[in-house]
Amino acid sequence: MKDLIAKLPKAELHLHIEGSLEPELMFSLAQKNTISLPYKTIEEVKHAYNFTSLQSFLDIYYAGANVLINESDFFDLTWAYLLRCHAQNICHTEIFFDPQTHTSRGIAFKTVIDGITKALQKGEQELGISSFLIMCFLRHLSEENAFETLKASLPFKDKIIGVGLDSSEVGHPPSKFQRLFVECKKVGYKIVAHAGEEGDSSYIWEAINLLQVERIDHGIRCDEDASLVKLLIEKQIPLTVCPLSNVKLRAVKNMQEHNLLKLLRQGVLVTVNSDDPAYFGGYVNENYEAICDNLDLSKEELKTLASNSFKASFLSDERKKYFINQISQY
Ligand code: ADE
Ligand code: ZN
Repeated sequence: MKDLIAKLPKAELHLHIEGSLEPELMFSLAQKNTISLPYKTIEEVKHAYNFTSLQSFLDIYYAGANVLINESDFFDLTWAYLLRCHAQNICHTEIFFDPQTHTSRGIAFKTVIDGITKALQKGEQELGISSFLIMCFLRHLSEENAFETLKASLPFKDKIIGVGLDSSEVGHPPSKFQRLFVECKKVGYKIVAHAGEEGDSSYIWEAINLLQVERIDHGIRCDEDASLVKLLIEKQIPLTVCPLSNVKLRAVKNMQEHNLLKLLRQGVLVTVNSDDPAYFGGYVNENYEAICDNLDLSKEELKTLASNSFKASFLSDERKKYFINQISQY
């Protein structure tokens, strides 16, 4: 299975670029930019990655992002992630970035997006990896703040395929951002949202009915509601599931109890992704390996998951067909 996981072409659809900041790069950027970190050694950092909830992770994740200051920092961060993709046969990636995490510290929107997109262009040219960028709004902040971010994004509209919603879920339902997403749709952005990670199934209903999402990020709590699962199957609304993240943040008790395979077998369009790989112990292939080790997944189901990653992507039908055909030949 491990060999097949490594060889299969895969797409990643749920990756926060700030969550790919490895401790080594965090330390070197902190030193370069004279930012003080609350850790003395890389071992101390890794020890701090002992999360008990989404919020306990987010506090550390936002603190880590403070080391990103210059365009070259965002370039280095993105390039390091693309090298990982290359090593894992990830042929296409749709990357989240959180502009408010940076603009709130006085970093210009342009600095962030230029650094990321220059690395993405190099990735396409030198590694053959295609990519799209998805701008996420931080849901713990106000809708007004999100509207300002939407406005700041407009000069860079051609570099952004869509918008998402992330950060602290419980207490910040999709309905809080309903007006914002109407505007995003008018701009022509595609729409996704984190829902049903820690929040209950009502967050998923709201993301579908009020925000009109094309994909749900996480969505694992859908199985509390049979009528919701039925809708996801009928409409083939994809879930971008992140198994290692779910265990690390205690959204599920352990990998053996993850509902991903059950949902896949029911006909839900499930995909496998890494979320914040530097914090959760693995990139895409390690996520596939973890589910293969703990769930009774067949080789055909593994291939279905890889095919789903392209099917659920924002690639053209022609590119989707190309990759899905490649996978069918394994
Ligand atoms: N930001 C980065 N990772 C996240 C996650 N798993 N859920 C919500 N917001 C996030
Ligand atoms: Zn996420």
